[in-house]
Amino acid sequence: MTTLVTEADMPTVDFAFADAHEQRAQLELLSKENWIARGPFAYPIFTYEDCVAILRDKRWHSAASVLAEVMGIQDERLASRRRESILSAEGDVHTRLRRLVAPSFSPRAADRLRPFMREVINGLLDAVTPSGRCDLATDVCDPYPIPIICELLGAPKKDWELFSVWAEDVLRIFNATAAEELDVIFKAQDELEAYTLQLIADRRNSPADDLITSLIAAEEAGDKLSEEELVMMVQAVIVGGTDTTRNQLGCSVALFAEHPDQWALLAECPELAPKAVEETMRYFGAVRSTGRFASEDIEYKGMLFPKGTLVTPALAIANRDDSVFPDATTFDITREPSGQPQMTFGSGIHYCLGAALARAEQQEALPILARRLRNMKIDGEITWKPSTVAIYGPENLPLTFDPS
Ligand code: HEM
Repeated sequence: MTTLVTEADMPTVDFAFADAHEQRAQLELLSKENWIARGPFAYPIFTYEDCVAILRDKRWHSAASVLAEVMGIQDERLASRRRESILSAEGDVHTRLRRLVAPSFSPRAADRLRPFMREVINGLLDAVTPSGRCDLATDVCDPYPIPIICELLGAPKKDWELFSVWAEDVLRIFNATAAEELDVIFKAQDELEAYTLQLIADRRNSPADDLITSLIAAEEAGDKLSEEELVMMVQAVIVGGTDTTRNQLGCSVALFAEHPDQWALLAECPELAPKAVEETMRYFGAVRSTGRFASEDIEYKGMLFPKGTLVTPALAIANRDDSVFPDATTFDITREPSGQPQMTFGSGIHYCLGAALARAEQQEALPILARRLRNMKIDGEITWKPSTVAIYGPENLPLTFDPS
């Protein structure tokens, strides 16, 4: 028998009162007995199996394009600004885009930037290691992805600051507080668009060894990206590749600060970096959930989800699913792969396009940090971003360590 989801028996969750850590603990507890719950805007999905099933089912569409409306933001400027992005595209449109751009995001393309990643992280650390203390979030994590994305795209060094601000402001659209920040968001969108158009024009005139040139040249069976699609892809990289990376690094280091034995192990065995990255992202991912809406009536596990129903696969909770990750609440950077990947990069057709680059960034940064920040300890208190943000991490991460 099929039950309408609105009438189905399930617990209700209210995110309003809990901070993010409390929220996670509550959801983790609920997930022991339930695969789904009723939330204020959507139905969170908890188990690994169900998150993967929904993310791989093409009838569930990305909520990226409808999120603002779902959160009750009424502003006519939103409709006129709505553009298809790779994250909101579905069906043949998405398949075509992904086929055209995927080669530019290969592991080989990411590997070429590894020496530069080491240079960037070492440069940032040089400024703080003599004193034996720093705010890792603002001194190291925040600036880290910017030069790398700029180098990837081929944007000049003088523009790094601008990128940093745009990336942060444009991403505010995914926050629960977006309604109050629309002016800032729109300003950043306009500036970023004008900048990107100029960058593309420059590369058309003088091709270089960078992502923009590779996207301009990307072609399959005579098909190419249009100017509008090029702008969208460059923006997707800036938006998708900065705040995610910096917050993931912050989450990972904060986690290591609670596990000094694991930090010392990584310093001694940098070859553990790939495993350490998967484990930190599993245990404490900066992207905790994503959203999908039913593009048609969908029946799943005896429930009917009417067209338009919103679900939020809770990636962070799926990452603690004991049936997939034995002893899931233990943080262990030597954990053997389970054959089922951690979920912080998502799953299905929208699986993170920048995963190879993001993995390389974390794999290069973490062992260098572990080697250079010996005896790392939290110095006071970590301030965390509010639980309303889409991409979570420490606002401030004050640390002490052995000066060097
Ligand atoms: C640790 C860092 C990162 C994390 C945790 C992360 C996480 C994610 C997740 C969860 C998704 C899927 C969202 C969904 O299914 O609704 C996604 C998609 C995406 N990510 Fe990342 N990301 C990271 C870094 C990057 C980087 C460095 C780039 C660019 C170079 C990037 C570009 C993208 C793009 C373009 C998509 C959309 C793909 C599509 O819809 O086909 N991400 N990311």
